[in-house]
Amino acid sequence: MKNTTIDQVRARRVWDSRGRPTVEAEVLLRDGTKGRAIAPAGASTGSGEALDLRDGGTRFGGLDVSRACAAVNEQISPALTGFDISDQESLDARLVALDGTADRSRIGGNALVATSMALAHAAAAAAGRPLWLHLAGDRQVRLPLPEIQIFGGGAHAARRVDVQDFMVMCPAASSFTEALEWTAEIYLAAGALLKKAGTLQGVADEGGYWPAFSTNEQALDTLMQAIVDAGFHPGTEVGISLDIAASEFGSHGRYELALDGRSLDSDAMIEMLGGWLANYPILSIEDPLAEDDPEGFKRFCAAHGSSCQIIGDDFLVTNADRVRAAAKVQAVNAVLIKPNQAGTLSETHAALVAGKAAGFGTIVSARSGETEDLTIAHLAVGWNAGQLKVGSFSRSERMAKWNEVLRIEESLGKQASFWGWDALPFRSAQRSIG
Ligand code: PGA
Ligand code: ZN
Repeated sequence: MKNTTIDQVRARRVWDSRGRPTVEAEVLLRDGTKGRAIAPAGASTGSGEALDLRDGGTRFGGLDVSRACAAVNEQISPALTGFDISDQESLDARLVALDGTADRSRIGGNALVATSMALAHAAAAAAGRPLWLHLAGDRQVRLPLPEIQIFGGGAHAARRVDVQDFMVMCPAASSFTEALEWTAEIYLAAGALLKKAGTLQGVADEGGYWPAFSTNEQALDTLMQAIVDAGFHPGTEVGISLDIAASEFGSHGRYELALDGRSLDSDAMIEMLGGWLANYPILSIEDPLAEDDPEGFKRFCAAHGSSCQIIGDDFLVTNADRVRAAAKVQAVNAVLIKPNQAGTLSETHAALVAGKAAGFGTIVSARSGETEDLTIAHLAVGWNAGQLKVGSFSRSERMAKWNEVLRIEESLGKQASFWGWDALPFRSAQRSIG
């Protein structure tokens, strides 16, 4: 008989893809089973996110995590020891109660999310199943539509362009494997275009090409050209997806576009983005307005929600209550799902369930600071999220996640099914009407 009681939780400091310290948690069960996970870190964070606990001071730019690791070893471990691993929700509730703050600042969002994910890995290992299957149980799941960055900007590229992510989606691909093949061709074609223009300048934080463009529209034109050069039909086979991350350059109803030298109010911002939607095959747009502009979100969604996925990231911060509130007033039609914005996996899952209940698109997402940790690849499949966003098509902290989904797709054999177009909320709405 296996003893799946928690024996110990311990933490160590490891390093993320930006060379910054982060927390790795390891859960040990009495029978020797282990589960391990690493906290990611954002750069363009929403103000409502769980807060990471960092040491401050001058060491490693104030970003060291010795206090967060100590919180795992000295507070989380004694609080969880002796409980069975099987009930993730009650273990997560213990973590939330132990922290006791709304913003998770006492124990730290980094300590909490690393522990919560490590608990899930230990439970899956105890059950002898891969994490995605442990989460899926008997439910049929489909492989997620990937959203893959080609150019990286905003806070991930010293604000070289205002828009943070210029991405592609391949909803007409027949499988996850094929979607990656198409993306590889487009990434290659985009690199060749930049090389020819003499503007190839390495890659940004999430592996997309560093954006040496003189306007935001030039980035869109180059992306269109890359799709065509790679041999695909823009719009019908491959679409564009943008993360505007507007909270980074907008607040109090003003948006300062540094690259274009434009200062816009909320309506002018909506008009500019509407122009992009009219001129380019944009299937998805994330945080088109700032987190403090809910009225702008509503107006944007009323104008474009029937033909475009409109995702709340900083606006909803993976919070189920915010998702329900946004659904009520139709401010978005999709929600980004980031475990470390919430703090625990149970809260993350609740936000996803709230999104699904509202008919939203749900996109499991990495952060700009990542590691070899594969948890989100398993969440996207096991929770049947429909979509997965982990950055670009280079840098191994990104590729590790794409490659893990390839393995899962292969393991499903003939049972494998790809979300494709069905993942996009405006397409499902059309289907249910038609
Ligand atoms: P972040 O960026 O991890 O720096 O917040 C990702 C995103 O905005 O989606
Ligand atoms: Zn975002």
